[in-house]
Amino acid sequence: MEKQRLDKLIASTGRWSRREVKNLVRQGRVLVDGVPVRSAEEKADPEKAEILVNGEAIAYRRYTWVMLNKPAGYLSATEDGRGPTVMDLLPAELRRQGLFPVGRLDKDTEGLLLLTNEGGLAHELLSPRHHVDKVYYARVAGRLTEEDCRAFAAGMTLDDGLACLPAELAILSSGRESEAHVTLREGKFHQVKRMLAYLGKPVLYLERVSMGNLPLDITLSRGEFRFLTEQEVDQLRKT
Ligand code: URA
Repeated sequence: MEKQRLDKLIASTGRWSRREVKNLVRQGRVLVDGVPVRSAEEKADPEKAEILVNGEAIAYRRYTWVMLNKPAGYLSATEDGRGPTVMDLLPAELRRQGLFPVGRLDKDTEGLLLLTNEGGLAHELLSPRHHVDKVYYARVAGRLTEEDCRAFAAGMTLDDGLACLPAELAILSSGRESEAHVTLREGKFHQVKRMLAYLGKPVLYLERVSMGNLPLDITLSRGEFRFLTEQEVDQLRKT
């Protein structure tokens, strides 16, 4: 791999800003192959050199993968004049890395949203051909029934002509308001809301709780993010 400037490389971990890297270098706390670095502009090959910051080896990755616990009120876009986007929830160092959301959650939908700059894998995860299950927790108005479950399983065609692949509706509670887990293998615009509205049970609240074999990390508060581990990214590659 080509050599890169240390400030850029270290900041790409999202843990330090470029300015902080400069200070750390000044304090002699950045070592490349055991030798203190003199300038943050020096270059190193992250795949060959051992880079220590405060005595800790930095885990360099070619691509960045982030799990965000999306709160309501943010658009799943990199830029949108209509309001705040999920990018506003990330630090500047990450925003500079060309991250984009892997698929979209509606402005009022909460929960698991992945962001990355690895276009190929992101594309695969979104393709219906790859059958990546997306699970949503939904609270709806009205009583969900076994008949609704059968309609999901059969694959429905909505009034507006949208033909939905077979999906799963697992009822968690049923009453004047009901709760369910909905599992989809595709992600058409407002799909969960449209499917449930078609059955006469409009969605009151929606949260994505998993994608493939990656559950939402419940230690993340709304609006918080964390990096995916290497194992988690490998798991996504296998889905
Ligand atoms: N389906 C919806 O209706 N909205 C979302 O945000 C995601 C899936």
